Order: sequence, then structure tokens, then C-alpha cells
Amino acid sequence: MTGTKIEFENITKVFNSGKKTITALDGVSLTVEPGEILGVIGYSGAGKSTLVRMINGLDTPTSGSLLLDGTDIVGLSEKKLRGIRRNIGMIFQQFNLFSSRTAAGNIEYPLILAGVDKAERKKRVAQLLDFVGLGDRGKNYPEQLSGGQKQRVGIARALATNPDLLLADEATSALDPETTHEVLNLLRKVNRELGITIVVITHEMDVVRTIADKVAVMENGKVVEYGSTYEIFSHPHSAVTQRFVATSLRNTPDALESEDLLAHQGRLFTIVLSEESGFFDAVSSARAKGVSINIVHGGVTTLQKHSFGKVTVRLNGDEQAINDFYAYLSTTTDIEEIAR
Ligand SMILES: Nc1ncnc2c1ncn2[C@@H]1O[C@H](COP(=O)(O)OP(=O)(O)OP(=O)(O)O)[C@@H](O)[C@H]1O
Ligand SMILES: [Mg+2]
Repeated sequence: MTGTKIEFENITKVFNSGKKTITALDGVSLTVEPGEILGVIGYSGAGKSTLVRMINGLDTPTSGSLLLDGTDIVGLSEKKLRGIRRNIGMIFQQFNLFSSRTAAGNIEYPLILAGVDKAERKKRVAQLLDFVGLGDRGKNYPEQLSGGQKQRVGIARALATNPDLLLADEATSALDPETTHEVLNLLRKVNRELGITIVVITHEMDVVRTIADKVAVMENGKVVEYGSTYEIFSHPHSAVTQRFVATSLRNTPDALESEDLLAHQGRLFTIVLSEESGFFDAVSSARAKGVSINIVHGGVTTLQKHSFGKVTVRLNGDEQAINDFYAYLSTTTDIEEIAR
């Protein structure tokens, strides 16, 4: 099985509500390669859900094309769209399970719709329950399951008919951080083992960081930034992206913390630690140059097999020695002074 390729070509969506027109999507162009996990992040009203509704054909763009594996789905008949939707799984923030059906019954439902015979359905449901780690909970009703377990049922149901594409609109927003992690890990397993393309809509940068290969940042209906998750985290360009990254990586002191740090002797510098950084080579020569270094804030993390981070260091020594050492560091290191 291979995942679906998605190509948005200059998609615009305008809503007319009364006299007002709202441009929910404003010229979105974006390609998602087969088997990739795309994270779409943005604040409320940015257009994320509208984007998802374009992919499953629940709504049509005002202009532009949307290609799924090379087929433009804009303007297709409802009958054709139903066929396309069969190849797309959806999971939701509120899980959308039938409360009158057991976990097994919920997972079985799309198989009944698809006309799969009873023996085959039973086998497939058991397989799916195992796959999502709920082998012993098939007979439970949704109200007997935790939020995380309900979302596992939702994922199993979405996978029942072997889709090539899975859409998750705020699928972990109702879950606590630990459960969110478990569900994201399950989605990763779905992606790795089944090769399914996944589009994850979220307003949480931690979600993106945990799961996405690529990230699209949306603001006012536009994709304002797009790149690999590592690129987005290590070099965020737009203000909105920088704000999102800061929520996930608390690696620069905020104004109050800076003030506290600056109350001490010495000068403060923020240093970007990437794998190319010459910082640690420079550290060994600091003492000989009359400068002492203390790390006072920040941290390093790994993302998509890269290490990177930001630390704030305090340099102590006489003024000239610090100036010289700062100039020396600047030749190999991304460094900036925090002004007093
Ligand atoms: N059916 C509709 N009619 C009119 N306006 C709509 C409709 N659907 C969405 N909008 C508007 O389009 C814009 C984008 O909405 P959308 O639901 O895509 O945002 P979102 O990024 O998913 O937000 P949230 O994070 O709150 O879910 C908003 O201004 C919204 O009010
Ligand atoms: Mg939404």
C-alpha cells in the first residue's frame, strides 16, 4: 500500500454569509508526498478545518485545484466523491463514536457500509482492535472507555477500509499530554507500518514536533511558512511561527527572566547550538583568553535526527577580554548579546 499524494494548487475558499464575505483559504499551494505526515498549525480561524474539508470533498474550493494522486477532485460528482472518500479515513476531536455500539461495533460499521461479509468483518475487527492496542476492549461501549481509548477506536474505525490517507482534525485536543503522546505514537505506527499519508491539524506545536515530517503554518487563510519540521523549529521566519515554536521550546529567557539574569555580574549572550556550531571548540580556549563561561538558561533537543537548541551563557572577565572573546565566537557561532 502507498499513501496518497495531495497537491493543493492555488486554492481559495470564500464564504458569503449575508453581506459579509470571509476568505477562509487564500491561494493555498502545497504538496504532500505519499506516506508523509503533514502537520498543519495555526490559531483559531486560520483556515485549518476548511483546508481539511477540501481534501475529503465535504466542501469545494471557490477556485483552484486539488489533486489526489493526480486526479483533480474539484467539481467531481457526489457519487465520484463518495468513492474517493472511501479511501480517506477521518478522526475527530470528539471521537464521533456511536454510543449505542460497542468498540467492535463502531469499527465494524464502515465495513458493513462497504458490503464486507460477516466472517471477514469479524476477522478484520479483531485485527484492528489488536493493532490499536485494544484487543480486550471490543465489547466495551464508548462510555466505558477513556478518551485515549475512544480515540484508538476512532483510529481503528478510520483504518477499517484500508484508506491511503488519514485526516486528523484536532484529534488529540481533548486529551491530556500523556494520552496525546500515546495516540500520536499510534498514528506514527499507522504511518510507518501501513505507509498511509497523514494530515494532522493542530494548534499545538508539541503535536507537530512529535509526529510531523513537514509543517505548514497557516494564518488568515494563507500558508505563511512551510518546511521540514526541523527547519521550522530551528529557523522559524514569520512572527507567527516564532510564537508557536516558543510555546514548544522554552529555550530563551523571557523578559522577566532576562531581567533577573541581568541583575548579576557579567554579560549575557544567546547562542544557537546546531550541529555546525563552533561553540564547544571555542569554550576550551575561554579560560586562556581570560573569560569564564556559565550556561544559565536553555537546552538542546533532538528533532528528525538533528540536535539543536539555544542556550544563554554568562561571560565574566574584564570588558576587553569579553569583547575579544565575543568577536572570536561570532566567527563560528550564531550568537547575540542580550542587552542590558
Ligand atoms: N460554513 C462557513 N460559513 C462562513 N464562514 C465560515 C464557514 N466555515 C468556516 N468559516 C470561516 O472561515 C474561517 C476559517 O475557519 P476554520 O474553521 O477553517 O478555522 P480553523 O483554523 O479550523 O479554526 P479552529 O482552530 O478554531 O478550528 C473562519 O473565519 C470561519 O469563521
Ligand atoms: Mg478547526
